[in-house]
Amino acid sequence: MNLSALTLDREGLAAAIACEDAAFEAALCEAAYRVKVETVGPEVYLRGLIEISNRCVKDCLYCGIRRDIRCPRYELSEEEVLTTAMIAAERHFGSVVIQGGERTDAAFIGKITRLLKAIKSIDTGEDPPLGITLSLGEQSREIYEEWFDAGAHRYLLRIESSNPDLYRKIHPDDPLHAYDRRLQALYNLKEIGYQAGTGAMIGLPFQTAEDLADDLLFYKEFDAPMVGMGPYNPHPETPLTLSGAPYPSAERRFALGLKMIALLRLLMPDINIAAATALEILDPRGREKGVLSGANVVMPNITPQEQMTKYNLYDRKTLNASDVSDLADKGIPIGYGRWGDSLSSLRAACLPGW
Ligand code: 5AD
Repeated sequence: MNLSALTLDREGLAAAIACEDAAFEAALCEAAYRVKVETVGPEVYLRGLIEISNRCVKDCLYCGIRRDIRCPRYELSEEEVLTTAMIAAERHFGSVVIQGGERTDAAFIGKITRLLKAIKSIDTGEDPPLGITLSLGEQSREIYEEWFDAGAHRYLLRIESSNPDLYRKIHPDDPLHAYDRRLQALYNLKEIGYQAGTGAMIGLPFQTAEDLADDLLFYKEFDAPMVGMGPYNPHPETPLTLSGAPYPSAERRFALGLKMIALLRLLMPDINIAAATALEILDPRGREKGVLSGANVVMPNITPQEQMTKYNLYDRKTLNASDVSDLADKGIPIGYGRWGDSLSSLRAACLPGW
């Protein structure tokens, strides 16, 4: 396939996704990187990732911290989260992401609300207060509102797959795991005023090139200001892996991960796109390659080391954690001390000076 023949409709996107020609894939990633630099600038923004707990009420068939898996569980104390957020402030990361398994108990909800207020009041020196993104799954509208009022302004909730049939295949068949419930949660977040980010896994069993094209069109239709999508990495003990359902090789999943970033950058030039952690599992330079394919956000993991190893969504021995010198070494400027909201969301809010 030739880059000049690429069209950004469903058919064209699916053809680009299915094309395994390395020269085409490299040209596509380079073109997307140019569009990124021209549209949102050369900087990469940082989100210090704090994995707050691996306890989860959900039982997703692909996930290594699913409810029914036997693994050591942990939960960071409020003090530990605050200390970790302070590290993000000291290092001028600009923002943190608080991510964890889905929990709906009152103790957890209250803890997050208190933490949001405490993190907002951390003195960051010259910088604005830390921006806070939450990634804590599906919650009621009231809880989303409570957290928004307490200081969270971005929320990540992946749709996981925009194809309801595929979604059903990779989740238990019950109301807690219903596709419509997840979609409604995404729209609730948006209505409340969050910058609501989404994303999907790439290279899942049963997933077709058309499914991946539809994921990209879903982000466009939802008008997502930010997207974090990454390769599926099988965890040895999950039902999806144990079912023996085939999925693309590690090499293909990595190439697909980069290609999806590149295609999305062409489709939605002014949004934030994260180089997902899952890329780093497949290639030690995955993060940098994601940026060079059009991503402009990276999420250095600042979770205390002991707990980080327990947040085992998939096998992730090789994680490069919080060091971002790989990017600096490549001459990629880092937007220290900035929230790095997407250009698209600032335009929507008519704010100058992004
Ligand atoms: N491979 C890749 N990503 C995974 N996630 C969960 N399990 C896996 C896996 N096996 C992702 C989901 C979830 C995010 C926190 O981690 O997309 O939204």
